[in-house]
Amino acid sequence: TDLTDFVINQGHGVKGLSEMGIKALPEQYIQPLQERVMTKIEPRESIPVIDMSKWDDPQVANSICDAAEKWGFFQVVNHGVPQEVLDNVKKATYGFFGLPAEEKRKYSKENSPSNNVRFGTSFTPQVEKALEWKDYLSLDEILAYMKSSKVLINHLLQVLMKRLNVNEIDETKQSLLTGSVRTNINYYPICPNPELTVGVGRHSDVSTLTVLLQDSVGGLYVRVNEGEDSWIHVPPIDGAIVINIGDALQIMSNGRYRSVEHRVTANGSSNRISVPIFVNPRPQDMIGPLPETLANGEKPIYKQVLYSDYVKHFFRKAHDGKDTVDFAK
Ligand code: SIN
Ligand code: FE2
Repeated sequence: TDLTDFVINQGHGVKGLSEMGIKALPEQYIQPLQERVMTKIEPRESIPVIDMSKWDDPQVANSICDAAEKWGFFQVVNHGVPQEVLDNVKKATYGFFGLPAEEKRKYSKENSPSNNVRFGTSFTPQVEKALEWKDYLSLDEILAYMKSSKVLINHLLQVLMKRLNVNEIDETKQSLLTGSVRTNINYYPICPNPELTVGVGRHSDVSTLTVLLQDSVGGLYVRVNEGEDSWIHVPPIDGAIVINIGDALQIMSNGRYRSVEHRVTANGSSNRISVPIFVNPRPQDMIGPLPETLANGEKPIYKQVLYSDYVKHFFRKAHDGKDTVDFAK
């Protein structure tokens, strides 16, 4: 149709639609009712915010592991990634999306000079019945942000592994946990009917860990209890980084750490950007419960699966739940 040609082929993205000043959401973006309405809880509790300035404090380690078990999400402050690096990532994100469509189009799947850089819109438009109000650029390991997050990532994993009785992360484990790292820069433009669509539909990440930088707009919600429709907001905190557990770590921990469903609402008055770093196993790795987690006789609840098969399974359908993990059952 004309719309997909404009948004996808010509490279305007939903940002282009937003900036044209359309008054009504095109029907391709109207999500089924159950995907757009959610019960937002007024939290008595909230997603933990963990101060990482005392890295070696056992209490900090406990808070990290407790948060990974209970919420699957937490925020970190005093995390060691310089504010200037975070500010530059945001600037670069606005810089890229501010380029004319014909420049951005050069990075679409069909045109990109590199497999590692891809400009797109929604999630997988070919299989989605309704589209998501989001443009993105997907990048392999190139940003300074990714480099300077490495220490933080390795520290978090060391702490999380220790609770699983993995006392040393050797080379094999290191590549199983962090062997392939990728980042997305996401742009969610102002939406004419935000209540009819989503920025990102509900899903859990396939990563080991995801490290997310968000701006001050907000809109990321996390499911509180599996099976219940109650969602809690992840409030933007200046300088903080959001961390969440992905499916790969849920599987490796034999279900101890939770990879939790989350979603992003569309916004009627502000543009939003976010920049997740996905820390993943390598495609050729087999993932399954780590032997150390089963050493005490615990029964494995997942089998070993090839990570590239797992990821393929994730991309086979739209963002409408957290059932990829069943693939490992
Ligand atoms: C995502 O989970 O895919 C995006 C998260 C965000 O934009 O906050
Ligand atoms: Fe996600």
